[in-house]
Amino acid sequence: MCGIVGYFGKRKAAEILVDGLRRLEYRGYDSAGIACLYNGGIEVIKNPGKIRDLRSKVFANPSATITESTLGIGHTRWATHGPPNELNAHPHVDVTGHFALVHNGIIENYKDIRKVLSQKGIECVTDTDSEVLVQLISYLYKDNLEDAVSEALQQVKGTYGIVVITDYEPAKMVVARCGSPIVIGIGRNETLVASDASAIIPHTRDAVYLEDFDMAVITDQGMEMCNVNRSPINREVTAMDWDEGSAEKGDFDHFMLKEMFEQPQAIRNAIRGRLDLEMGTAVLSGLDFSERDAAQINRLLVVGCGTSMHAGMVGEYAVEEMAGVNAEVEQAAEFRYRNPIITPNDLVVAISQSGETADTLAAVREAKQKGALVAGLCNVVGSTIARETGRGVYLHAGPEIGVASTKAFTCQVSVMLMIALKIARTRRMPGHDGSEFARWIQRLPELVEEVLEQNDAIKAVAQKYAQCEHAFFIGRGYLYPAALEGALKLKEISYVHAEGYHAAELKHGPIALLQENTPVVALLNNIPGKEKTLGNAEECKARNAPVIAVVSAGDEGVADGFDDIIVVPDCPPAIATVPTVVALQLLAYHIAAARGCEIDQPRNLAKSVTVE
Ligand code: F6R
Repeated sequence: MCGIVGYFGKRKAAEILVDGLRRLEYRGYDSAGIACLYNGGIEVIKNPGKIRDLRSKVFANPSATITESTLGIGHTRWATHGPPNELNAHPHVDVTGHFALVHNGIIENYKDIRKVLSQKGIECVTDTDSEVLVQLISYLYKDNLEDAVSEALQQVKGTYGIVVITDYEPAKMVVARCGSPIVIGIGRNETLVASDASAIIPHTRDAVYLEDFDMAVITDQGMEMCNVNRSPINREVTAMDWDEGSAEKGDFDHFMLKEMFEQPQAIRNAIRGRLDLEMGTAVLSGLDFSERDAAQINRLLVVGCGTSMHAGMVGEYAVEEMAGVNAEVEQAAEFRYRNPIITPNDLVVAISQSGETADTLAAVREAKQKGALVAGLCNVVGSTIARETGRGVYLHAGPEIGVASTKAFTCQVSVMLMIALKIARTRRMPGHDGSEFARWIQRLPELVEEVLEQNDAIKAVAQKYAQCEHAFFIGRGYLYPAALEGALKLKEISYVHAEGYHAAELKHGPIALLQENTPVVALLNNIPGKEKTLGNAEECKARNAPVIAVVSAGDEGVADGFDDIIVVPDCPPAIATVPTVVALQLLAYHIAAARGCEIDQPRNLAKSVTVE
C-alpha cells in the first residue's frame, strides 16, 4: 500500500527519494511527497497524482534548496483517512515546522490522541491518522529525537512503519516499525530506508529488516538499533538477492506483460534443486520436516487471499488426490476470525507473494497460537510472514511489480504441487508415479512457453471481446481455481465485470445474466469433467452467450460450434492449471490493453494489502 523511502548520506537526497518513490509506484498510491533538511530548515513538496508530477514540482526550480539536501524522506500515499489531496499527502509536518514524518499503517487511536493534542492547543490540520504522530513527537521532544519517538510510540495503538526527521538534529533520522515493513539499506557512506527493497536495490544489497517494535537511529556516525522501549538490540545484515534489472520494465509495455513472459524462468527458479526424480519426491529443505514428519501430517490447511488463495486451492486438490490427506483452503481473514479447529498434526501453509498481507499474517499468528505446524510460501525474502513462520519455501520468482499477480501465482502452484508430492510419497504413492509427476512439474516451464508462443492468437481473441462489460469463466476440478483466477485477472486490470464459477454452479443462478454480449470462457481441457463442462458451455451457447473454448492441443474438435478457441498443452489435471491460467492472464492483459487501461497500477488496488 503506502510506500516509504528515506536517505541520509553524501549524495543529493531529492533525486534518490523521487526515484525510490517511482520504484514503489507499483504498490498503488494516489499522492506523494518528499521532505528534506537543508540550511537549518525542513522543506516539503507534496502532490496529489503521479510521481512524474511530483518530480516536475521538485525539480522545476533547479536552484531550489530541496534539491541540495543530503537527508530526506519520501512517501507514496494510498488514502485510508481523508481524500487523496495535497494536504493529506505525506510527509506530515508538525505545527512548529521543525519535524517531518512519513507513516505507513493505521493509528487506531488517532482520534483520542488528536483530542489530547487539542487540549494542549495543538490542532491537527489534515484528515489523516498519521499527522497525530508527528504532532505528538514534536510535543514530547526535549533534546533527543529518538526519546520523543519512543515515548510517542508507546501511546499509539495500531500499525506503523515510520521515518522521522527534525531540523533540531539535522544529522539524524529515526525509523521504527510495528506491522508495516521497513528495510534499511546500508551503503558506502550512506543509509537508505524503504518500505520495500525494490526502492533501494540500485544503491545497495546489504539490508537490515526491522522487526515489530524495532527502532533504528541513523546518524552520520552509523546506525544504532533498539526497541521502542529503548533497550539495545542487534539485527543481522542480510544480502538482498534481487537484481536491479528485475525491477525495470525493459522493452515490455508493462511490468505485467514482462512478468508473464518471465514465468518459464521464474518456475525454473522455483523448482530448481527441489525435485528428486529418482526417489520421485520433492526436496524442500526450508519446510524443515523429514519424511517422518510429513508422514504424520493429518491435515493441510492453506490460508491466503486473492490470487494466492487460488494457488492454495490447487494445492488442496493435489494433496487430497495424490496424498489422500484431508486438505482445506481458506480465505485468511475468515480463518483468523472464525476460531478454526486446529490440531497439532495440522500443517498450515500461508501463501503470500508479498509476505506482508495483513489477514494472512494474522492467520499465521492464530495458527501458531493454536499449536499448528506453520509454513510460509512467500516471494519476498525477509518479509514478515517468511520470518514469522520460520519455515517454508521461497518462490524465487523475482520482484513482482505489476499489481496483478502473475508469475507469483504460477510459482505458488508449482511449489504447492511439490509439497503435495512430498506428502504423497510418504503415503501410498509409489515411486514410479512420484517420478512421473516430478517430471511433469519439471516440464511446467516449457508448457508455459508453449502458451506464451500463442500470444498473438490470444490477443486476436481478446480484441474481439474488448468492449464487453461482463464475462464469465467456468471450469471444474483443477480448472475451477483457474476459472476464478482468470476472472480475477480480467476484472482487476480491465474493469470488465468478470465472475469465475464452478461450471455446475452457473445453472443455479448466474446463467440468468447471460446474453449475447456476455462471453463465457469455458475451460474444456482434456481432464476429467470435460464432458460435463462441455454440456454447460452448450447451455451458455443456447442462451446466445458467445463461448471462448479453452481446449487441450490435439483435442481442438471440442471447440466446434463455439465462437473462439484458445489451445493449451495437453497435460495431467494437476498440471493443467498453470498453462491454462497463463492463457487467461494473456487474455485479460490484451483486453485491458485494448481498453486503454493502466495495467500495472489499476485503480483502487494496492500491491501489498497491509490493512484488514
Ligand atoms: C491479484 C492479486 C491479489 C493478491 C492478494 C494477496 O492479482 O495480486 O489478489 O494475490 O492481495 O497478496 P499476497 O500474495 O501478497 O499475500
